[in-house]
Amino acid sequence: MEAFHRIFTNSRCSFIFFAIFFLFASALSIANAKTHEHTFIVQAAKVKRLCKTHNTITVNGQLPGPTLEVNNGDTLVVKVVNRGRYNVTIHWHGVRQMRTGWADGPEFVTQCPIRPGGSYTYRFTISGQEGTLWWHAHSSWLRATVYGALIIHPREGATYPFTKPKRETAILLGEWWDTNPIDVVREATRTGAAPNVSDAYTINGQPGDLYKCSSQDTVIVPIDSGETNLLRVINAALNQPLFFTVANHKLTVVGADASYTKPFTTSVLMLGPGQTTDVLINGDQPPSRYYLAARAYQSAQNAPFDNTTTTAILEYKSAPCPAKKGVQIKPVMPQLPAYNDTATVTAFSKSFRSPNPREVLVPKEVDESLFFTVGLGLNNCPPNFRARRCQGPNGTRFTASMNNESFVLPKNISILQAYQQGIPGVFTSDFPASPPVKFDYTGNVSRSLWQPNSGTKGYKLKYGSRVQLVLQGTSIFTAENHPIHLHGYDFYIIAEGFGNFNPQKDTAKFNLVDPPLRNTVGVPVNGWAVIRFVADNPGAWLLHCHLDVHINWGLAMVFLVDNGVGKLQTIEPPPVDLPLC
Ligand code: C2O
Repeated sequence: MEAFHRIFTNSRCSFIFFAIFFLFASALSIANAKTHEHTFIVQAAKVKRLCKTHNTITVNGQLPGPTLEVNNGDTLVVKVVNRGRYNVTIHWHGVRQMRTGWADGPEFVTQCPIRPGGSYTYRFTISGQEGTLWWHAHSSWLRATVYGALIIHPREGATYPFTKPKRETAILLGEWWDTNPIDVVREATRTGAAPNVSDAYTINGQPGDLYKCSSQDTVIVPIDSGETNLLRVINAALNQPLFFTVANHKLTVVGADASYTKPFTTSVLMLGPGQTTDVLINGDQPPSRYYLAARAYQSAQNAPFDNTTTTAILEYKSAPCPAKKGVQIKPVMPQLPAYNDTATVTAFSKSFRSPNPREVLVPKEVDESLFFTVGLGLNNCPPNFRARRCQGPNGTRFTASMNNESFVLPKNISILQAYQQGIPGVFTSDFPASPPVKFDYTGNVSRSLWQPNSGTKGYKLKYGSRVQLVLQGTSIFTAENHPIHLHGYDFYIIAEGFGNFNPQKDTAKFNLVDPPLRNTVGVPVNGWAVIRFVADNPGAWLLHCHLDVHINWGLAMVFLVDNGVGKLQTIEPPPVDLPLC
């Protein structure tokens, strides 16, 4: 006892004691890290939606696909077997993939597609991320039906930085076409016109009460009086930013894109495709039934969109029994913002903060100062094309670009393979750091600037470089809120605004104290956003608009990040079963 007492009173000894204790504890937590093995069978399945039975590509016959649940620090091993009739890849949206770029998934960027009959095993470790992410196909429009939640609980033995929720429910917002979505995008590629808009939005795969033949399958989200529950909201829609709300209930935002946020309370969320938001909800209303609802935020003017509303039902366990047997109480319908309510979107996105300024690692200085325009374009009809292939506005074909470069995927090898193996002719590294021609980006843009170049261009980053990227929306053809997603990284959003970014005055608005950490930023319609990150993950990383139709049109580019020094700063060798083209 005496000796033990002395250990604590002698500061050198107590240091050693605590050092040993921590070593032991961290060894224990590494020992606790688990490996989760899953098999995803990509296969057609019969799925009934909107009064019809469809032959839909799914994972394991489920829509949405299986939910993966892990702890921070765990490893996932997912064998994907392609029994469908299309090429497929799976992307683990938001997973940092430190040194495991081969498992990232975008087709022809980090791997060749898994052919029908083929398979590929994705192996990666979740490290330092907690909250909600998701996975989805990254090939053509397969992600319309091939997607699911990826839930990351705190490290074994750790807790949430908020009241432990009684229940947790993943809310996946999806988008449904009454025809095969692959045919929809193929048709658009043929005609050059915008693809048909969807026929429904869905919550956990179900359109809900407001659509034909959907009431019986409406998703029920349970709650009880006095409970605090966690909703993990994911926008898995293909082409539509969505508002989300719950009738009569306040939502406290506690996380987004698998990073915690400083809690704030709101009645409505807006998520661009790709984004996730974790919210706490209290069972503080009279026990009854309340709709959860989502519908479009449509910032592009005069563009057709799916103007329907999807619902699920928040049901109190103690809700009174209906007077007549078999008749349910009608749920309370919430107010949703107008489809073009940009003011609500701005107020919401500006509410995000990191919870602990002391843990914020935003670079204060930058090595690379980049400026990318993001927007649409229209190509004149090529001379060898018939009119029916130029059904865009005034006989054109839709296109999109960053810095006037419309991105084209390689066809015979992935960019990462070509980069690692030094294979020439697949891509060039001359993606411009700033727009080749400066113009009034959000003004009345001359028609001569509507036709971008096209090609496969990357931008090289030295390992460890501190990057600032201004994403500037353009008003070419039509301005729109673009959800821009970066693979392989989280980034800090240090500012956003409307009009043209002005370094003289907008730099003063940079938040270098507690900016939110995310993987997808909604670039305001007719505006800009500034992000910063440190290029500490070697590989080939796609930056793109998460509206799938815009990827088809070329709204993407790729960052090529060098290896650093030594093994821990070098990408792992490719897995032996990496699919070949
Ligand atoms: Cu969630 Cu490249 O995508």
